[in-house]
Amino acid sequence: MNQINSHFDAAIIGGGLIGCAIAWRLSKAGLRVVVIERNEIGHEASWAAGGMLAPLSEANQADAFFELVVAGQKMYADFARELCEATGIDIQYRTEGTLYLALTDKDEEELERRWRWQQAAGLNIKKLNAHDVLKLEPALTPQLRWALEFPHDHQVDNRRMMTALEAAARDNGVEFWTKTEATSLEISNNRIAGVETTKRNIVTNTVILAAGSWSSLLKATDDKVVMDFSVEPIRGQMIALEMPVPALHHVVYSTSGYLVPRADGYVIAGSTTEIVGYNKRITAEGLASIITHAVEIAPNLSSQGVLETWAGLRPKTKDNWPVLGNDLRISGLVYATGHYRNGILLTPLTAQSISELVLRGESSINLTPFSPARFDQHSGLHLSA
Ligand code: GLY
Repeated sequence: MNQINSHFDAAIIGGGLIGCAIAWRLSKAGLRVVVIERNEIGHEASWAAGGMLAPLSEANQADAFFELVVAGQKMYADFARELCEATGIDIQYRTEGTLYLALTDKDEEELERRWRWQQAAGLNIKKLNAHDVLKLEPALTPQLRWALEFPHDHQVDNRRMMTALEAAARDNGVEFWTKTEATSLEISNNRIAGVETTKRNIVTNTVILAAGSWSSLLKATDDKVVMDFSVEPIRGQMIALEMPVPALHHVVYSTSGYLVPRADGYVIAGSTTEIVGYNKRITAEGLASIITHAVEIAPNLSSQGVLETWAGLRPKTKDNWPVLGNDLRISGLVYATGHYRNGILLTPLTAQSISELVLRGESSINLTPFSPARFDQHSGLHLSA
């Protein structure tokens, strides 16, 4: 290591929502924390997301992951309030709910399947006929057949939330090292001893890896690969459009796209799911497919202006589940990564559970199914779908 070292109680690699929320929690508990970010704070998936908090709309079956996202959703109202009290920033947590439309025979089959398992699980979900849906949201297509309503699938403005979390963490003394790469982990006798970065080296016994799609690039000082799993970037392109008339209020899904109406008077339309490496190009094909599906859902959008286009990289593990918890071989290395489509939804839960793990040695939320050990051939732990 270089001669000039900085000492911290915890170093967090990755300055997105997850990293900043953990930094906020740990610094509130009195720890000296640094966040190392290769770009600017919150400029990757946290900024690119649509902000849907939609466990029922997005999950496919009742399993441990579904329990996790439902628990994550339940933390949001308090989290938004606490963040607003700390910073004065309203992150626009909105509770109008989500509508999932059936437009075709295939959609009807998918919605019936969803209805059956979610009813069986005792979840709060309603079937609405076309007339009732159009009464709620007159901007939707009159071609819709029926819809599911998820009153507890909400939304938040993820960009405002990013600004608020960074401010809250800074107020508590968290240091942010931006445009800085964590080049390797220093490991001594199977314990974390520090992090080498392109700025200065850090001496710490705790490293939290929250680098999303960049997580797998981290190596040890001897150039050995640290992890048993990889996190792959999955591109999602997005478009912001002027609000249609009449305005939308609910988040609206179909099997091929979604619309998220923002309080600031525009609609976010998404998205693509593309395996193209670390490539955030916006393509004609991607935009055309998003606009086609957006206009299928709300025809009046066709005459609205395009306000912004962007793309982000979702961090995906092999089984689509996040990796949360301690590395079982390297003491002091903690994972909070691989959140794929649910990073915004799982930010409060991840921050709570990972900070408990660091501060108390255990989490009040059962993280066993999300342990990195599930990717270890010899652990026998293969719980996910
Ligand atoms: N959660 C929505 C998306 O990943 O596109």
